[in-house]
Amino acid sequence: MLEGAKILIVDDSPDIIMILSDFLEFNGCEVYTAACGKEALDMLGKEDIEIVILDVQLPDINGISLIDTIKVDKPTTAVVMATGYYDPNFVIDAMKKGASDFLLKPFEFDKLLLVMMRVIRERNLLVEKESMMLNLEDKKKIEHLNRELQKKIKELTTMYHISNKFNSINIFEDIYEKMMQIVGETLDVRSCGYYVSDPETDDLVLYTGHMKDGAAPDPDWKRISLPSDFNKDDRGARKHLVRDNKVYLPLVIQGEPIGFIMTESRLNGSRTPKAVENDIFFLRLIAENASTQIENRMLYESLFESILHTLRSLIIAINKRDFYTDGHCKRVTNLSLILGERVNISEYEKDVIRVVGPVHDLGKIGIPDSILLKPEKLTDDEYLIMKSHSEYGEEIVSRFEILAKEAKIIRHHHERYDGRGYPDRLAGDMIPVCSRVIAVCDAYDAMVTDRPYRKGMEADEVLTEMARCSGSQFDPAIVQAFTEIIRDGYER
Ligand SMILES: [Fe+2]
Repeated sequence: MLEGAKILIVDDSPDIIMILSDFLEFNGCEVYTAACGKEALDMLGKEDIEIVILDVQLPDINGISLIDTIKVDKPTTAVVMATGYYDPNFVIDAMKKGASDFLLKPFEFDKLLLVMMRVIRERNLLVEKESMMLNLEDKKKIEHLNRELQKKIKELTTMYHISNKFNSINIFEDIYEKMMQIVGETLDVRSCGYYVSDPETDDLVLYTGHMKDGAAPDPDWKRISLPSDFNKDDRGARKHLVRDNKVYLPLVIQGEPIGFIMTESRLNGSRTPKAVENDIFFLRLIAENASTQIENRMLYESLFESILHTLRSLIIAINKRDFYTDGHCKRVTNLSLILGERVNISEYEKDVIRVVGPVHDLGKIGIPDSILLKPEKLTDDEYLIMKSHSEYGEEIVSRFEILAKEAKIIRHHHERYDGRGYPDRLAGDMIPVCSRVIAVCDAYDAMVTDRPYRKGMEADEVLTEMARCSGSQFDPAIVQAFTEIIRDGYER
């Protein structure tokens, strides 16, 4: 029954140690010995002792005091006290401190054996219980960690979706509408809106927003006032304010609040403070993403404006040499936008035409006056030089990386639908649609405009000529749409 049990005998009497050791080893125990308290503690530190048989009187310490130390360091180690006389007070004291039993000297071996067997059984139960408690604790910890992990995964997924949605917004989309759409999709709120200040009344006026689940809007939803204690410094510092079931958060651009997001949670009280805190976290994330996008757009637009300014100054230089180019470029741009709309080009392509139209002949800056301004027919060599203006224009514009698409449109504005144009002899749909649109308008305007050396042709006459060139020089579908525009009474 005691087979393999690790027992430590602590006694200053070598005789007692010897007798006990012999008996316990005979019963299969693994016996360790110590002659004083210090030796006992050293041994307990080295070996995984199951039972300590502890003499009350030790040379260096009282055995009762030693129980405390043993129970702190090794709570599952059982302690059996050994004493030469029975003292009820001592027994109670020892039991209170955690002793499992006590033995009277001289030892009765039968009793000793029974006590040891009982103690070892109790100790095994204690170890089992400790292990179960530890497992239970571990299980609880794991469940808690799992819940936390799930929350983190959900949070990270939501953050990823928010950032993804902002990254997929294209330049033509209304960033504020998109922002509120993302708020509506991300948060479980009754309504959300983006408001801008009415400078006259200091009220906030709804710019865009949603009522969710078909809820009826409050009558004053479209015009609200900020709570009076939401001070200016807090607004500029991107701080939020929670009032009743509403959250107010400023949208700050370059340190200034340009508007406010307001979300209203449901009134059924389902929003716990934790859920509101969660909403605020995502609301701030959305506002930060929107601010970054708006700032990027502002940067892009100012960069774009400065590039266009540079290009316009180059065009002014050409116009000073050739007055025809000035009005011609403006007319080609306007007409191309009307024609583009008629042939259903995208908003992005219209923006490309707005940039390219005025500068499509920018390359003429590299053509000598003797050729550019020559009233007579150009020689073959001169024509070759004149034709280089489309490539030269592309070369200038392509130096601005953000105008890569525009540069290509300039390059191809003299291609022909049948592939016999220049510089790349592209044919059909291989020619960018903006170039095909500009080519038609460019040719029309050139033919109807008076030049110093010839009178402009009549519109009908030009349309006949364009119909003749439809499918060879020009895209037939674009010529068709163009003819309709002129027939509808387009005024130059
Ligand atoms: Fe041209």
